[in-house]
Amino acid sequence: MKRLLKVLLVIIGIVVLVLTGLMIFISNKSPEVFENKAPDVTVTPDSAKVAEGARMASLLCVNCHGGEDGTLSGHFMPDTKVFGTLYAPNITHHENSRLHGYTDGELMYLFRTGIKKDGLYAPPWMPKFPHLSDYDVECLISFLRSDNPMLKGSDVVQPAPEPSFLAKALTTFVFKPLPYPTEAIPQPNQDDPVEFGKYLAVAKFDCYGCHSEDFATLNTMEPEKSPGFFGGGNNLLRKDGTPIISPNITMDETGIGSWTEDQFVTCVRYGERPSGIATQYPMVPFSNMTEKEVKAIWAYLQTVPKIKRENPKS
Ligand code: HEC
Ligand code: HEC
Repeated sequence: MKRLLKVLLVIIGIVVLVLTGLMIFISNKSPEVFENKAPDVTVTPDSAKVAEGARMASLLCVNCHGGEDGTLSGHFMPDTKVFGTLYAPNITHHENSRLHGYTDGELMYLFRTGIKKDGLYAPPWMPKFPHLSDYDVECLISFLRSDNPMLKGSDVVQPAPEPSFLAKALTTFVFKPLPYPTEAIPQPNQDDPVEFGKYLAVAKFDCYGCHSEDFATLNTMEPEKSPGFFGGGNNLLRKDGTPIISPNITMDETGIGSWTEDQFVTCVRYGERPSGIATQYPMVPFSNMTEKEVKAIWAYLQTVPKIKRENPKS
């Protein structure tokens, strides 16, 4: 009996030592620096690209990078607090901004792979766009080079992020850069609602990220293989930090199977559900999306496998 106790104590001792060592390693490890293989390209902007890029920015970037001064000067991110004290940086045309010094090719590389100019990997709370068409990436870059008032130089410098232990552990073992595409990514066929809708919901506006089971289990390269694809259940946070669970938006009766196309369009564009109850943050109305686009997403959702998962009452 005494022997067994001794052996047990030794085993527990070893486990504690290993865990402590691992914790010290993770806490002190400097982040991995990746080779920056940014392509040597220059985007030729035109007014259509700038306009589309501005629309995308209003739907995709302002939420995080929008500052109090009305420019993209950044702000504190209250809804990622499990990952530490984080700030979305200033990306205006000021020399203090984090956009400063980026070439078009480096921006392309950042948006596709997540590798920043300095070789560090931008954590998951800065979105990646591995399936966005080449044209739409050019639109984003054209916008970032434009004289849009959102980009007017602001000297605001956001504090350095203080990642939590969890964020550091995930950065060490889980979060990894995405591969840079080896072939051109064409625009979807806008006359095919299912193809167009899939592109919008998966590649461009990332509806599936929030509306699948968990950010941690998303399959970024093959989104349809993500557990609970469009079935909701992802634990998100409201602006005040209280939890909110993303709803099931598959066509099952526990999802939005009883909704009409018009009700879906009204909800996504104006935030008004059939019940009359408004959708809350982080589901911000996609008011800059056209009716054609939202109808295409509706058409695509008809083809997504149904999932049974009851939505919270609303
Ligand atoms: C969910 C929040 C979020 C959204 C949405 C977001 N970003 Fe970011 N972005 C971040 C954070 C956080 C960082 C800082 C990453 C870091 O420090 O490694 C960042 C960093 C950046 C950087 C600087 C990279 C560097 O080298 O420091 C650029 C440029 C950028 N984002 C552009 C964009 C654009 C363009 C969009 C819209 C298409 C966008 N971001 C959407 C959170 C966000
Ligand atoms: C940042 C995360 C996030 C993104 C991105 C997002 N949603 Fe949502 N969505 C939510 C959350 C959270 C709710 C629940 C809001 C509430 O309960 O008030 C919601 C609610 C909804 C609802 C209402 C469902 C119901 O049963 O009441 C629909 C429809 C919807 N989203 C569709 C979309 C579409 C389409 C997109 C992409 C264009 C999208 N969402 C992008 C988080 C998100």
